[in-house]
Amino acid sequence: MNTENAIQFPEGFLWGAASAAYQVEGASAEGGKAPSIWDNFSQLPGKTKNGTDGKVAVDHYHRFREDIQLMAKMNLKTYRFSLAWSRVLPNGEVNQEGLDFYGALIDELIANGIEPVVTLYHWDLPQALQDEYGGWESRETIQAFLKYAEVVFKEFGDRVRYWVTFNEQNVFTSLGYRWASHPPNVSDMKRMYQANHLVNLANAEVISLCHRLLPDALIGPSFGYGEVVPETCHPQDVVAAMDANLFNNDWWLEVYCRGTYPQRIMNVLKQLDLDFEVTAADTATLKAAKPDFLGINYYHGGTVRRPSATVMNEKNLEMTDPYLMAADGQKETPEHLLFQSVSNPYLAKTDWGWEIDPVGLQIALRNVYEKYQLPIFITENGLGAFDTLTSTDEIDDDYRITFYREHLLELANAIACGVPVIGYCAWSFTDLLSWLNGYEKRYGFVYVDRTDEDVRELKRIPKKSYFWYRDLIAKNGQQLTEEK
Ligand code: BG6
Repeated sequence: MNTENAIQFPEGFLWGAASAAYQVEGASAEGGKAPSIWDNFSQLPGKTKNGTDGKVAVDHYHRFREDIQLMAKMNLKTYRFSLAWSRVLPNGEVNQEGLDFYGALIDELIANGIEPVVTLYHWDLPQALQDEYGGWESRETIQAFLKYAEVVFKEFGDRVRYWVTFNEQNVFTSLGYRWASHPPNVSDMKRMYQANHLVNLANAEVISLCHRLLPDALIGPSFGYGEVVPETCHPQDVVAAMDANLFNNDWWLEVYCRGTYPQRIMNVLKQLDLDFEVTAADTATLKAAKPDFLGINYYHGGTVRRPSATVMNEKNLEMTDPYLMAADGQKETPEHLLFQSVSNPYLAKTDWGWEIDPVGLQIALRNVYEKYQLPIFITENGLGAFDTLTSTDEIDDDYRITFYREHLLELANAIACGVPVIGYCAWSFTDLLSWLNGYEKRYGFVYVDRTDEDVRELKRIPKKSYFWYRDLIAKNGQQLTEEK
């Protein structure tokens, strides 16, 4: 299927851009805000690039009106942003100044014809909840999350229709509890799976709460999805890709959409003593909640092959399911015997080595929709690159335009194949702080003049891609046809 002659995006398609509080706001100790786990983690030596943090970020907290003017001039239909929980309920109690800030932001968006899409949790848990309860390892944190959500649903529910529960649960649980490269800086897979289960419960409960309090609202998680393909058509590579998709994607999507964990993975975790308790009440909670849409953050997919002959021979496992045979209490990672990641020779890479795979977006959308039958909202997609200012203070980011054009063509292909896509949020509107890569890895349509070390004037300069996206939105994507 291709869209050679006519590219159709639905009427009212939500053309947008996204951000996250910690990455743009700054004002990390202003307006009554308490520290989040990211405020503290970024101060640990060696954890972030050049010790970069969100103290000032790109100062969206003070400059949101200027930023929204730029959004409006760009014809943006929607802006996805997150609330800093530690600004709204710094120490468990409501901070009016925090609510006022987000109220003003939301009002300003609406006054400019921009639909707010609000993410409840983009990784910046209040530090107090980490200290007091152990963060997502405690059911107390679920209760605190519901309290916070209830406050903001009641405060903004009259103006906000679209809500995102958790941003990339797959990313923050694995980086936070497995690889110790995000807070809470833990490297323990048993704890990771337990915390992940509690986040699943929090996700389900907050969806049910939203449906009770705001029957007209639409709510769903934003998941970091990457389709995994086999390296070759060797049947064992195909099996490896099936397992990789289960581990990387369906492990979460099955829970979000059906309230159940894939049995295949549960068996593997049990074998490795990584299983966790799921009570009957938990199952009821998970099954009772159904998202209204699936948010998909798409950057790239993956490629895998069967585990190497050495691994298989060592274990004498060839030609059978390794987990049926591996009864020696071995402690490899769950993925070790199932698949090995390899790079895809057909794909170019970004300056940071991420594969660029626009067709993977079409594949992802079609597969996710076929399996889960929910409308999809692309809540992130973008290119991190080094941008340079010309001598006349311009940024000719043709590479970013190419990236977006190719991805949007594949998005249009998916829509033409019948996938209902509500909207598309590019990542990001302005340049912002990359959690681990500082300010040099730029994603925005709008350049922000600062470096890792020097905050400078934080001047906003629209890039070439800004004008390209503006014109694209004005014609509801038709420009893609003209450019083909
Ligand atoms: C997504 C996150 O995982 O990727 C964003 O939701 C993040 O918050 C984006 O910034 C890009 O990642 P990075 O590491 O390049 O900043």
